[in-house]
Amino acid sequence: MTGGQQGISRVPERVPERVAGLLGRVGAQPRLVAHLELVHGVAVELLAEVGRRWPGVEVDEAAVRFGAATHDVGKVRHPEELTGPGHAHEPAGYALLVELGVDPADARFARTHASWGLPGISLEELLVALADKVWKNRREEELEDLVTGRIAEICGLERWEVFLDLDEVLTAIGEGAEGRLAYQSSFPVVG
Ligand SMILES: [Fe+2]
Repeated sequence: MTGGQQGISRVPERVPERVAGLLGRVGAQPRLVAHLELVHGVAVELLAEVGRRWPGVEVDEAAVRFGAATHDVGKVRHPEELTGPGHAHEPAGYALLVELGVDPADARFARTHASWGLPGISLEELLVALADKVWKNRREEELEDLVTGRIAEICGLERWEVFLDLDEVLTAIGEGAEGRLAYQSSFPVVG
């Protein structure tokens, strides 16, 4: 049970100050900002659950929060991908953040949030990708397997027992999807 997430029309947790500044500088569209706030909020919930259930897992929480709150920033340059499919925003987002002076290590989430099969992908990147799915209750087996495997390896646990817990977390977060979708849709696509 997550409590609190049901029927959200509540405002999600604020994105980090530094991100709010960046989004203002690039003129991020209201719907994009709402989406980034929501995915950031879900990432914060995921981090809390990972910390509580698997305290042996070390995660760079600031990086995950930054990544979740900026992952789709490339849609500033590809606004058609705010309402339709497409991956052009991924390299564009990375380039935009680097142009703004963001460290490539922090900018990488913009490039990798839909590419969880990449070799060498970090747990932080996997968590951002996961937050970007579960906010709307989308379940991605391959992605969840990767996160499960990573946690099981670090903690020396069986995969099935990690997945039982992860599934409980994702199911609970997913229950807030309808409210989050309604919140996001209430913002105009164009600023
Ligand atoms: Fe997204």
